[in-house]
Amino acid sequence: MEVAGAPIRVQSIAEKDLKVAVPPQYIQPQENRPSKPSNGNANDHKIPMIDLGGDKQVDILCGEIRSACTEWGAFHVINHGVSISLLDEIRKIGSSFFEDLPMAEKLRYAYDSNSPASEGYGSRMLVASDDAVLDWRDYFDHHTFPLSRRNPSRWPHFPPNYREVIEQYSDEMKVLAVKLLGLISTSLGLPSSYIEEAMGEIYQNITVSYYPSCPQPELTLGLQSHSDMGFITLLIQQNVAGLQVSKNDDWVTVDPESHAIFVILGDQTEIITNGVYKSAVHRAITNGVKARLSIATFHDPAKTVFVSPAPGLNPPPRYHEVVYGDYVSSWYTKGPNGKRNIDALLI
Ligand code: OGA
Ligand code: NI
Repeated sequence: MEVAGAPIRVQSIAEKDLKVAVPPQYIQPQENRPSKPSNGNANDHKIPMIDLGGDKQVDILCGEIRSACTEWGAFHVINHGVSISLLDEIRKIGSSFFEDLPMAEKLRYAYDSNSPASEGYGSRMLVASDDAVLDWRDYFDHHTFPLSRRNPSRWPHFPPNYREVIEQYSDEMKVLAVKLLGLISTSLGLPSSYIEEAMGEIYQNITVSYYPSCPQPELTLGLQSHSDMGFITLLIQQNVAGLQVSKNDDWVTVDPESHAIFVILGDQTEIITNGVYKSAVHRAITNGVKARLSIATFHDPAKTVFVSPAPGLNPPPRYHEVVYGDYVSSWYTKGPNGKRNIDALLI
């Protein structure tokens, strides 16, 4: 989609003369289309909501975490310690960047299309095959941890508080991620610092995704089905739904809960827990009327870190040890497509 050095953003397609039909590159094959909108109200379709506040006993809390991580690999948390005004603030600066700045201004922050996972404003997953179907999504990726990767001068200068809000949000999300990884470890009978120590230094990225309204939501996806590569993702949405989690061959829509933070286990958590906890397969659908915004904060290890099942957990080991950097490279080579990457590590 990058023609003669002129990067195309989905937002500019959506705003142009293409109000009735999306370009063919965005049309999903039949089997991937979001054809059956199913979000039954049966109990097994209710995504767990876990209250981290108050004086709940640790074993009760860990029981809730365990059941959510076993059944879903994803859950909402409330009373998470992050102020709601900060959640609102980052949603506000995120939409302001996408909606209030002219395209030419936004493109000053364009990511480097020659370098995978580079920071900045972009609109496609870097996959090897050029015939891959494209996501109906633009995004801004920020490198936030370790601090040596954090360079706010590369982030938007508008609105004026943009960079300050991202930095504060980044710090608070890291604290919450470490807390959750501690609870996840404890809930499996591991020392509470087990996963944090296995990760070593935490690499954190914050991706603000913008899904313009789409003239043909029934043919497209905002983000194709995948599981996240790292350990734990913390996601918030604006008030338009679109994120879906796979459960028993069904897609369950994640309600935008403005006070809650949505926790998604990534593939490395599945590996280190020896499959006791599963990473959640998820995707984003598009909306025919409204644009949608989400903010995902990813927590990964360094590329050189080895990840393997915790000894003694649900033996025998079911996954091969992996160097995280190799895992990431194979992801970028093959594309996300469900969970193919982690399946390759199964013993
Ligand atoms: C992601 C992701 C979902 C969303 O960025 O990995 O799954 O709702 N995002 O934007
Ligand atoms: Ni994801």
